[in-house]
Amino acid sequence: MPPTIEQTAITAPLLQAMACREKLVMLTAYDHTMACLLDPHADILLVGDTLGCVIQGEQTTLGVTMEQMIYHASMVKKGAQRALVVADLPFGCYQLGAKDALRAAITLVKEAKVSAIKLEGGSEAYASIQTITQAGIPVMAHLGLTPQSYHVMGGNKVQGKSSTDANKILSDAKAVEEAGAFAVVLEAIPASLAREITAALSIPTIGIGAGPDCDGQVLVINDLVGLNQARAPMRFNKEYCAVRSTIDDAVGSFAAEVRAGIFPGPSHCY
Ligand code: KIV
Repeated sequence: MPPTIEQTAITAPLLQAMACREKLVMLTAYDHTMACLLDPHADILLVGDTLGCVIQGEQTTLGVTMEQMIYHASMVKKGAQRALVVADLPFGCYQLGAKDALRAAITLVKEAKVSAIKLEGGSEAYASIQTITQAGIPVMAHLGLTPQSYHVMGGNKVQGKSSTDANKILSDAKAVEEAGAFAVVLEAIPASLAREITAALSIPTIGIGAGPDCDGQVLVINDLVGLNQARAPMRFNKEYCAVRSTIDDAVGSFAAEVRAGIFPGPSHCY
């Protein structure tokens, strides 16, 4: 029997075909346990450099290193049977030019065995996107709020509100498609702009804070399940549950039982 779509490992070309008939689901993942949990639900697992914030507790993504990205992406890759695994190129690994970018992309594919990479930037990333794609590695672009430009943006702020900024993001979107990107993340831009970009491109757009008209949606998994307390919630996040309270309750019960001499009980002893 031929494999069904649900059983088929998703590739970049398959994802593009899927986008014509269904909304794409992308989630971040940073370790094997979470990758196994998310894989049946997601089309794409992104090993995002948000790991700097949600895993490492940093304010920005800027400190994430290539070694850390390889470490996390390898764990995620082992847990993903179906979803396309994409890893972020960390800040500093591709800003010096296309040659560096290609080297970083090859390292991630060879060492973490991911199937695609993501990088931030529009027309300025054209040569890098083209070079990496021509070397055989699919590239996902990222426009709008690009967290690696935190200091230039003056924080994580909505982008594309003025018509000048909106036009720049639209022309960047066309540029990354022309350079060969197989998909593009649109982060924190007005829904109307994301709609216009989605209509103008033939590659899938994946939104986060970019309204309902993108071809797919992505959220940071720790935000979606309400795991982190410290992160200021962005307006675009939806907390589907509050895992932190479940953990708090469970660990509180464990601590109380240990202190009261209740745990371990007879059934936990040899
Ligand atoms: O690094 C990341 O997790 C991302 C998503 C928020 C799209 O880029």
